[in-house]
Amino acid sequence: MLSECLEGLNIKPDGIYVDVTFGGGGHSLKILEQLREGRLIAFDQDEDAKNQAESIQSRSFTFCQANFRHMKQYLKLNGVSKVDGVLADLGVSSHQIDSAERGFSTRFDGPLDMRMDKKCKLTAAKVLNEYPEEKLHKILGMYGEVKNAKTLAHAMVQQRSVKKFERNKELVDLLQTVAPRGKEFKYFAQVFQALRIEVNEEMQALEDFLHQCGEVLNIGGRLVVMSYHSLEDRLVKSYINTGKMYGEVEKDFYGNKLKPFEAVNRKPVEATEEEVKENNRARSAKLRIAERI
Ligand SMILES: C[S@@+](CC[C@H](N)C(=O)[O-])C[C@H]1O[C@@H](n2cnc3c(N)ncnc32)[C@H](O)[C@@H]1O
Repeated sequence: MLSECLEGLNIKPDGIYVDVTFGGGGHSLKILEQLREGRLIAFDQDEDAKNQAESIQSRSFTFCQANFRHMKQYLKLNGVSKVDGVLADLGVSSHQIDSAERGFSTRFDGPLDMRMDKKCKLTAAKVLNEYPEEKLHKILGMYGEVKNAKTLAHAMVQQRSVKKFERNKELVDLLQTVAPRGKEFKYFAQVFQALRIEVNEEMQALEDFLHQCGEVLNIGGRLVVMSYHSLEDRLVKSYINTGKMYGEVEKDFYGNKLKPFEAVNRKPVEATEEEVKENNRARSAKLRIAERI
């Protein structure tokens, strides 16, 4: 949904734009093509993304190797207080998934790492080996929507008492024993997603980031967010519709809604069948676009 994201940003050639998930730079490069006097500030917490960004030789471009939960602070450090568009394409990049040594993939064996920012201390192995059973149960259910989360958390604790988890393959071998028949791959993906979200504090980072969008965007500026699972999409939808992550929109004395955004598209944009055929990950993508009011 690259073109829908770009259209959503409604790019002015002299505007200031932020891509908070640089990844391989696909979206950033397309934004840069549309700028003349404008500026693009890109973020990614991953070192590989930073190395990729170094190949962009444009005076309009600035890269910050940082978590987007600190967006406002880094913009300030770069002399920017207001911007015209913010793009977030959440989750993991294909580069991260395809690098066995990063531990994100259910398909390759690698260390149970899953950190986007290698400076962080928490890894998937630490979660599996050190979290109490109830906490494992909670994150598997909440972040992975794993149906038999309690059974799985118990199996994990039993397994680690025999041998600590180190490699993806050890986890996949255990998952084979509790996965619903015929739905193994979906099950593996749900468990890996839950661990990844916990390791990278993805929900907390998204909340912190969304709150700053209302503050940094100029009136008429656009917020464009592509999410890949229902928890993320629920937060984005709620923030756009109410200005808050949870609860109803607040109103002033006259009944005017107190919220910073108006949705541009009432329903999220989803990938076409063609796109899903080309890129299976697009299957679960939901794109929401909102305007600062
Ligand atoms: C789906 S990819 C983005 C792909 C990108 N749009 C492109 O065109 O190549 C998501 C990227 O966001 C980064 N990321 C995810 N959460 C982040 C966070 N809280 N702060 C900074 N970067 C983050 C990941 O490291 C990953 O590189």
